[in-house]
Amino acid sequence: MDRQAIDDLYHAHHRDGWGSVAEDELEFFQSVIAADRPGNFIEVGTASGLSGGFLARFLAENGGRRLVTLDFEEQFFGDRSRQVGFQIDPVKGDAAIEVARYRGITLLDLPEDVTGFDMGFVDANHQHPWPLLDTLLLHPRMPRGGKLFHHDLKLYRDDGHFNSIGPKHCYDQFPDSHRHVSAARGGNSYWLDLSMSREELGARGAAGLLIPWTLMEPLPEAQIEAAAAQLGRHYGPALRDTFLTAAARFNWIRISRPKRIIGKLKRRFAAAG
Ligand SMILES: C[S@@+](CC[C@H](N)C(=O)[O-])C[C@H]1O[C@@H](n2cnc3c(N)ncnc32)[C@H](O)[C@@H]1O
Repeated sequence: MDRQAIDDLYHAHHRDGWGSVAEDELEFFQSVIAADRPGNFIEVGTASGLSGGFLARFLAENGGRRLVTLDFEEQFFGDRSRQVGFQIDPVKGDAAIEVARYRGITLLDLPEDVTGFDMGFVDANHQHPWPLLDTLLLHPRMPRGGKLFHHDLKLYRDDGHFNSIGPKHCYDQFPDSHRHVSAARGGNSYWLDLSMSREELGARGAAGLLIPWTLMEPLPEAQIEAAAAQLGRHYGPALRDTFLTAAARFNWIRISRPKRIIGKLKRRFAAAG
């Protein structure tokens, strides 16, 4: 696809507020896919399916065979009357590629035999530790290593969504030799190279997991257990225990306005009394 074709298709389907990638970010993905020619690709965070539809096209034009895309929701947040991924087919067109869609799950629930990826894109929950956790959970499913794109590196800075600092904490754990920020959208997208041993990635993961979490909602107990079990299986008991320590410390912390107001009132009463 040339630039004009991307532009036409993008503007036919893009809507403000639907959380999709920008046009120049798609061109960044296309250039890396053309260089590395991945056969199997996984996307975490389907939403409308705009990025998925373009990824399917870029893969097909470079010999790709399969795109797997998954989303935690069943219905698309931007239009609850539509199913997640409803834009994949209209954007994909007749690109010859298998697309497998999973709705209502996180990576923690993706069947173990859905594996063997060469490249991926994480654009799901941006609150720490999700982007790092998704990265750690994808390593076992990318046996040959490969590049993993992440989105919204600077969301916390631009929009003041301070909870969405997850992509930045994830990026910070990687050495320069294994990360690259694109100039697209002012430096909002990057890739990580997962071609490193599980020991090295586990050590980097441990450091990142112990940075205070910024979740708006605590992880349910079942997700804590599933994440601990999967991290333990792939990286060993030390990372499992680090994850559980971090969960005990941070899963329930809240930096919320109501809490701050209650604190302020308490201090005022204490000062008055
Ligand atoms: C920013 S949107 C993705 C946009 C899409 N990649 C695009 O460019 O068109 C994020 C999506 O991730 C989903 N999501 C949130 N948390 C998730 C998780 N832990 N695992 C998988 N999907 C998640 C949301 O339901 C939402 O649809």
